[in-house]
Amino acid sequence: MNIIDGKAVSASVKEQIRAEIERDGLEIGLAVIIVGNNQASRVYVNNKKKACEVCGIKSYEYALPEETTQEQLLELIDTLNNDDKVNGILCQLPLPSHLDEEQVIEAISPLKDVDAFNAVNVGKIMIGNYAFLPCTPAGVMELIHSTGTKVEGKECVVIGRSNIVGKPMAMLLLHENATVTICHSRTKDLAEVCRRADILVSAVGRADFVTADMVKDGAIVIDVGMNRNAENKLCGDVKYDEVAPKCSYITPVPGGVGPMTIAMLMKNTLMAKRIQSKDE
Ligand code: GUN
Repeated sequence: MNIIDGKAVSASVKEQIRAEIERDGLEIGLAVIIVGNNQASRVYVNNKKKACEVCGIKSYEYALPEETTQEQLLELIDTLNNDDKVNGILCQLPLPSHLDEEQVIEAISPLKDVDAFNAVNVGKIMIGNYAFLPCTPAGVMELIHSTGTKVEGKECVVIGRSNIVGKPMAMLLLHENATVTICHSRTKDLAEVCRRADILVSAVGRADFVTADMVKDGAIVIDVGMNRNAENKLCGDVKYDEVAPKCSYITPVPGGVGPMTIAMLMKNTLMAKRIQSKDE
C-alpha cells in the first residue's frame, strides 16, 4: 500500500505556477469573498490566500458580515467583474441560507469564474473543451496520474453526485476513457458497486462511510471527504485503518485532495489572466 502525498504534489504544481508567473512578469489578482462566520470556510479561505502568496498572486479578501444582503453581494461581484486588477473571483460556499447561491455563482463573469461553477464553464467541462478546471476533480486526476496509473479502460466509481465534485469528477474520468459509475444515496447495494472499482472516489461528507468490504483488493482509493469525527479530528469519508491495507494507493485526510484543490485554483487563476490578456 502506498500513501499519495497530496501536499508534495500540490507544492510541485504551485512551484511551476510561481516560476511561470515570475518568468513572464505577470501581475495577477484573485478576489476571495467570504460571507458570515463559517469556521471551515475561514480555514479554506486562509489556505487559498497562503497559496496565492506562494505563487506570487495578489489576493484581495472581502470578508462580509452574516447579514449581507443579496443586493450587496451582487453589487460587489459587479464591481469585481469590472476591475482589471482582479483576474479571478471566488465566493466561498456555503453562503448563509438567506442568500441565493445559484444567482451569486451566475453573477460572476465566466472569464473570472476560477471555481468553474457557473453554467457556461460547467457546460464546457461537459463538452471537454474547457478553460477552467473544476478544482477538486482536477486535483484528484493529478493525484491519480502521480501514481503512474492509466485511467483508460478502468472501472471507476464515484460516490456522490454534487455539482462541485461528483458530477465533474465523473466527466474528467470519462474524458480519459474510464468506465464510470456514479453512486448516490439511492444506489442499491452500494458496497457491491464500489467493489467493482479499480479507482474509487468518495465525495460523500460522512466519516467512516467507506469500509473495507466496499473496496476491491489493489484499488486506488481517493478520499474527497472533509469531516470531523467524534473527537473533532479532521477525517475523510474512508475508514482509513481498515481500508488502507487493501489499496494499491490511498489518499490521506488531511494532506490528500485538499491541498490539490487549492493548487488547481492557482492554475485557474493563471489561466484567467492568460484568457483575459488575449482580449486586450
Ligand atoms: N466550498 C467547498 N469547496 C469549495 C470550493 O472549491 N470553492 C468554493 N468557492 N467554495 C467551496
